[in-house]
Amino acid sequence: MSAAAIRVDDVTVHYGEVLALDGATLTIEHGRVCGLVGMNGSGKSTLFKAIMGMVRPDTGSVLINGHSPAKVRKTGAVGYVPQSEDVDWAFPLSVRDVVLMGRYGKMGPTRRPRAADHAAVASALERVELTEYADRQIGQLSGGQKKRTFVARGIAQGATTLLLDEPFAGVDKRSEATITRLLRELADEGATVLVSTHDLHALPALADEAILLMRRVLMHGPPADVLQPENLALAFGLDVLGRGESA
Ligand SMILES: Nc1ncnc2c1ncn2[C@@H]1O[C@H](COP(=O)(O)OP(=O)(O)OP(=O)(O)O)[C@@H](O)[C@H]1O
Ligand SMILES: [Mg+2]
Repeated sequence: MSAAAIRVDDVTVHYGEVLALDGATLTIEHGRVCGLVGMNGSGKSTLFKAIMGMVRPDTGSVLINGHSPAKVRKTGAVGYVPQSEDVDWAFPLSVRDVVLMGRYGKMGPTRRPRAADHAAVASALERVELTEYADRQIGQLSGGQKKRTFVARGIAQGATTLLLDEPFAGVDKRSEATITRLLRELADEGATVLVSTHDLHALPALADEAILLMRRVLMHGPPADVLQPENLALAFGLDVLGRGESA
């Protein structure tokens, strides 16, 4: 049997004194869309960064398709849409430049794009409906367009594992629907998607499975089970769906 798309085993991460992940363990199989939910500070972004190899776990291990994050990043097989707060939007890059970055691994040391690279960028931009914004500086985009730019980068690089950190934050319903549909299409083509969100109501339409995070994985199962009020209470400590009684 082939290795799981994402395997996180007993990962603990500290930032100085702060314990951000505490023995997080999870496995996601190929072709799945997995929603990641948890309160602010529960370690979602840290989990993405640990999977990407951007923060080094104190203990534990991460494997993507059975390989280390560093190795998989070199091949371009893993794509990452960072949380908006983690991006320098003033950086002088156009939409096309960002998407072209997804091709760097395939370009060789000179980083001179060839016809195939330009074609991949054009096709990815079309897929996320940003063709007409290709020359726009990335800071001069709406929230939804910014997210779609990074999704296009993942598509252009041919990523089979996609990590999206809050792609729906500051995004209108139409962009949310476009991104949700795109993620489903990519999963149907065999990609594995891990996507964090605070939109609990949208979770069943978005994801095949969901993870409830609170420094560790509290629960991993069908979205409907994860959304049970008693499970949400564990992760959020209150009646987040607004349908229970107060204490
Ligand atoms: N670079 C950093 N230095 C120090 N502490 C950090 C750093 N990044 C995150 N933390 C802390 O680690 C914990 C987990 O943060 P993380 O960003 O992973 O949470 P999150 O679930 O993504 O939150 P949010 O929903 O607000 O995006 C928090 O307590 C946070 O303050
Ligand atoms: Mg975060």
